[in-house]
Amino acid sequence: MITTQEITQIREQVRAWHAKGETVAFVPTMGNLHLGHITLIKEAVKRADHVVASIFVNPMQFGQNEDLDAYPKTLAADQQALTDAGAELLFIPTPKVIYPKGTEQQTYVEVPKICDQLCGASRPGHFRGVATIVCKLFNIVQPDVALFGNKDFQQLLVIKTMVEDLSMPIEIIGVETIREESGLAMSSRNGYLTPSQKKQAAKLKQVMDAMSVKIKSAQAIEDVIGQAKAELVEAGFKPDYLEVRSAIDLSASKAEHKALVIVAAAYMGTTRLIDNLCFER
Ligand code: PAF
Repeated sequence: MITTQEITQIREQVRAWHAKGETVAFVPTMGNLHLGHITLIKEAVKRADHVVASIFVNPMQFGQNEDLDAYPKTLAADQQALTDAGAELLFIPTPKVIYPKGTEQQTYVEVPKICDQLCGASRPGHFRGVATIVCKLFNIVQPDVALFGNKDFQQLLVIKTMVEDLSMPIEIIGVETIREESGLAMSSRNGYLTPSQKKQAAKLKQVMDAMSVKIKSAQAIEDVIGQAKAELVEAGFKPDYLEVRSAIDLSASKAEHKALVIVAAAYMGTTRLIDNLCFER
């Protein structure tokens, strides 16, 4: 696998592949790769002739008191895992390459409405940072298809909306959440949890599973949410939000909505975990 910090090298390689009529899939990441990322790469291998990955811990999507500086960096292990999974090109730009004028002077992309709720309400500016970096990376790599984890449900919706609204010729694929045996969704942030917190954190998926069963059996959503929040607190979580929304556009759930998603964000100690569960009622 070729690893480069240079935009020109990425462009030249992708142009050469496209000139031969070959397709390119792209998996952007912030590194510290786990099985969830590797699943994205393996899925990308199935969907295109060549796979490009990126590792960039994007300062624009972190708030002031968030974990930007502490974000785990494991480049050598990541390179090995990407090579083994079938990636051929890895882009590892520096912040200077991506934001030569700094983030304050940077033109940005903002997807209205979806950006301000749920994680966007708790992390102001987060989705502006995500949309901007993904837009930039798409312009640099120019892939035919790009893959993202369903675990970041709201992020996926932001990216799909951006691509549609800005007429980007890229197919966006959401890939199933990969979980630990306990049910805990895989995340680079799980590494911040102590062994006992990790055990407690598995309760989040159990609570969401139980919520979906109750909602399917026509229990009032507000009551179900109330009970579930109490269970999360009991399990040691500090819930940030726990909501049931339309799985199509994350709008408030209505009686006529069939496809629903439970979206959750909760602190275990100082670690903020997110998860979701889609279901039909
Ligand atoms: O999901 C992530 O790892 C990041 O938000 C992404 C999409 C790579 C943008 O920085």
